[in-house]
Amino acid sequence: MTTNRTFTMLKPDSIEKGNIGAILEKINAAGFRIVAMKLTQMTENDAKAFYAVHNERPFFGELVEYMTRGPIVAAILEKSNAVDDFRALIGATNPEDAAEGTIRKLFAASISENAVHGSDSDENAAIEGAFHFSGREMF
Ligand code: PPS
Repeated sequence: MTTNRTFTMLKPDSIEKGNIGAILEKINAAGFRIVAMKLTQMTENDAKAFYAVHNERPFFGELVEYMTRGPIVAAILEKSNAVDDFRALIGATNPEDAAEGTIRKLFAASISENAVHGSDSDENAAIEGAFHFSGREMF
């Protein structure tokens, strides 16, 4: 079976609410293998760089403030069809539109505090994983 990788962050609201364990349980139950994982906090410069593609969008400042206000859990996950299957598992960006049972439906409060990130392509998964992890932190 061919496996590939995606990158995720459990965002500050997930850590603040004590949802790390519950979210990881969903990720594990869906068949993802953890390749790398850590609790870390992004600086303002980190968040501006990570989300640079969105820097013209009206919510950019709010997004940077949110993503830097506390620790996140960053992780690289492996599975067949990892990027698409993980985006299906987390659900729509806006939890109001997310399907029942998805991580955002269960754990996200709003579009601006939506609990979890998932890469949108194999290429971005590799870039985002390398943003947070060195080669010797991947297993
Ligand atoms: S996506 O995930 O790229 O398809 O979604 P997109 O709509 O392009 O959003 C890009 C990231 O910005 C976040 N976002 C918002 N933050 C604050 N306020 C509003 N209104 C808002 N809309 C979108 C969204 O969660 C995406 O972040 P990530 O970390 O990729 O989930």
